[in-house]
Amino acid sequence: MINNIRLGVNIDHVATLRNARGGNDPQITRAAIIAENAGADLITVHVREDRRHVNENDLKSILSVIKIPLNLEIAANPDMIEIANRYKPHSVCFVPENRKEITTEGGLDVSKNFNKLEKLVKDELDNDINVTLFIDPDKDQIIATKDLGVKVVELHTGAYAEGYGMQLNIETELNKIKEAVQIANDFNINCHAGHGLNFENVSLIASIPNIKELNIGHFLISDAIFNGLENSIFKMKKIIKESTI
Ligand code: PXP
Repeated sequence: MINNIRLGVNIDHVATLRNARGGNDPQITRAAIIAENAGADLITVHVREDRRHVNENDLKSILSVIKIPLNLEIAANPDMIEIANRYKPHSVCFVPENRKEITTEGGLDVSKNFNKLEKLVKDELDNDINVTLFIDPDKDQIIATKDLGVKVVELHTGAYAEGYGMQLNIETELNKIKEAVQIANDFNINCHAGHGLNFENVSLIASIPNIKELNIGHFLISDAIFNGLENSIFKMKKIIKESTI
C-alpha cells in the first residue's frame, strides 16, 4: 500500500544562504517552484521575529508563484498574526520562539500560554486560516490542545532524530510519538510531525498510522547542495511512499 502522508518542504534555509550575501541568490521563489514540481504537497516557511531567513516579501512572492498550500510557522504573538492575516496562508503553525536559539528547540507549552493562544487561535480561525500547534509528543500538551479546540498538532521529532543511531533512545522517543498520536487520535486531533528528519530516520515516523503530514527543511536543503533540490525531494517522497504503515 502506498503511504500518502503529505510532505511539506520547508525552504527557510534557501533564504539563510541568500541572506549570507544579501541580494537575491539563491531565489526563494525558484526553490518554491522546484519543490512544487518535485512533488511537495505544501511549502512551509517560518517568518521569525528576527527575520533571519524568510521575510514578508518572500512570503508574498512565494504565495504568488505556488499552487500548493503554504504553511506559515510563526511565534504566537499579535505582530505575527497581523502578517498571517494580511497574507492568508492555508495554515499557520504556532511555534515557540527564542531569539538565541539556532532552531526551534522544543514544542509550545500550550497550558502555560493557554489564554494568549486562545485569543490568537480564534483570530486565525475567524480569518479562515487553519491552525496547528507545534508541541512535544506529550499527553498534557495534547489535552491542553483539545481544551483549546485546536484540531491539528505537529509533533516535534527532534529528540527522536537526535537519538537516531542509539537504539535505546530511538525506541523511547519513537514510543512517545506513537503514544501521542494515539491520544491525539482519541480526541479527534490530526497529527503532523517534523524536525530533524532525513532519508535515514524518516521511515519510522512515516510508518506511524495517522500521521498525515511531515515538514522537512534543513536536511532537504543541505542534500540539495550536492544532488539538486528536485532530486532530494523526489528521493524523500519515494522513501515516504514506501514506508509501510
Ligand atoms: N516543523 C517545525 C514546526 C519547525 O519549526 C521546523 C524547523 O523550522 C521544522 C518542522 C523542520 O525542521 P528541519 O529543518 O529540522 O527539517
